Amino acid sequence: RKPPSRKGSMADVPKDLLAQIERLEELFSVSKEKLIAISDHFVKELEKGLSKEGGSIPMNPTWCMAFPDGHEEGTFLALDMGGTNLRVCEITLTEEKGEFDIIQSKYKMPEELKTGTAEELWGYIADCLQQFIEYHHEGEDLPQLPLGFTFSYPATQEYINHGILQRWTKGFDIAGVEGQDVVPPFEAALAERGLPIKLTALINDTTGTLIASAYTDTEMKIGAIFGTGCNAAYMENCGSIPKLAHMNLNPDHPMAINCEYGAFDNEHVILPRTPYDVIIDKESPRPGQQAFEKMIAGLYLGELFRLVLLDLHQNPDVEIFQGQDMSKLQRPYCLDASFLSAIEEDPFENLSETSDLFHHKLNLSCTKPELELCRRLAELIGTRAARLSACGIAAICKKKGYTACHVGADGSVFNKYPHFKARGAQALRDIFGWGKEVKKDPIVIMAAEDGSGVGAALIAALTLKRAKEGNL
Ligand code: GLC
Repeated sequence: RKPPSRKGSMADVPKDLLAQIERLEELFSVSKEKLIAISDHFVKELEKGLSKEGGSIPMNPTWCMAFPDGHEEGTFLALDMGGTNLRVCEITLTEEKGEFDIIQSKYKMPEELKTGTAEELWGYIADCLQQFIEYHHEGEDLPQLPLGFTFSYPATQEYINHGILQRWTKGFDIAGVEGQDVVPPFEAALAERGLPIKLTALINDTTGTLIASAYTDTEMKIGAIFGTGCNAAYMENCGSIPKLAHMNLNPDHPMAINCEYGAFDNEHVILPRTPYDVIIDKESPRPGQQAFEKMIAGLYLGELFRLVLLDLHQNPDVEIFQGQDMSKLQRPYCLDASFLSAIEEDPFENLSETSDLFHHKLNLSCTKPELELCRRLAELIGTRAARLSACGIAAICKKKGYTACHVGADGSVFNKYPHFKARGAQALRDIFGWGKEVKKDPIVIMAAEDGSGVGAALIAALTLKRAKEGNL
């Protein structure tokens, strides 16, 4: 479905606002040529990340070294530490190829935890696991349960049940965790509570998504997250990972690579950054990092929108929100991506839903031209996010020579943001030059299976199998 066209609706927009809309269109639009240039540069950066010298994209080996064959069995716990929720699942993989049973509970991840202490973080997570076990297995004498822990931050792994946090992303800022192995303090919190749980695999959400999606669809070559953060994983041959050459691994053996490509262009050479992107970066807990992610991920879309509106309000040449109380809009990160989603979804010609939203959330009453500007701005920010997001996927396909494949995608932006999928698909057509003669897009980004639940369980199962066989 194409975004509804609002042509003609700008007729009554005063000149100063129209000029601003044009300026914003200029700032936020990414041409086909630019998309191609970005994805070509991206390929080189992926390669650099695999080299001994390294680059700004981490390209982390995950020690997830096989796709499931559908015959994995057993009962596993999966723990997903996302940005907003904490989810615990118990998954039983059955003999039936590709089938599983799942029970799960969700817990809120308190906002304070993101900037609290490490003890609070591990303690809270262990408490949730304890609650889960008590609720679902009251009074049972449980055997030790293997756990797949989806820890979706960049981690250096020398083996699969350990991981040194390279740096926090997605607004987390907990002292004393970066540069440390996250597994021992996590296991200590489990032991303190006497929980019968053994961490078997520490995984990234993208790797989980890749593995879970490939479980049901063998065309799936990439697992991607478009959510609070953005990132992707794919399978590389060990022989194509120069930074692992010293380990003498079988060159034909597959290894899932967690790209951590949110860090693409940290050196600011190619992405079309606006002054608003510069502010987001400066004000974030980790300036200079995650340059790509900060332009496209869900965590930042509402903030971009807010910064643009504030800037327009402060501009003496522009009349917008005149004489109104701006205090609510002044609060950083008060708007999330769902605010923009709602604006883009407003079905009414007079944008009455957008008007209500501004009223209730921000205490602002908008004129019709102001509403038109806001709608256009939301479209611009949402479209830029989708188009740039496609560059990462295109780059992996180019690097691997995939001319046709499926990409399993998950995350709030992919699942909920209006037109994101259609805009991303159009960007892939622009990058690969698929014209009208191409009846079906050869590379398709589609909804993934549950990566941080089923994917984590499958990776734990594959790890145990590998250990049994005495491999690595
Ligand atoms: C951030 C994290 C990465 C994760 C992504 C999506 O980029 O660093 O590990 O995969 O967000 O959640």
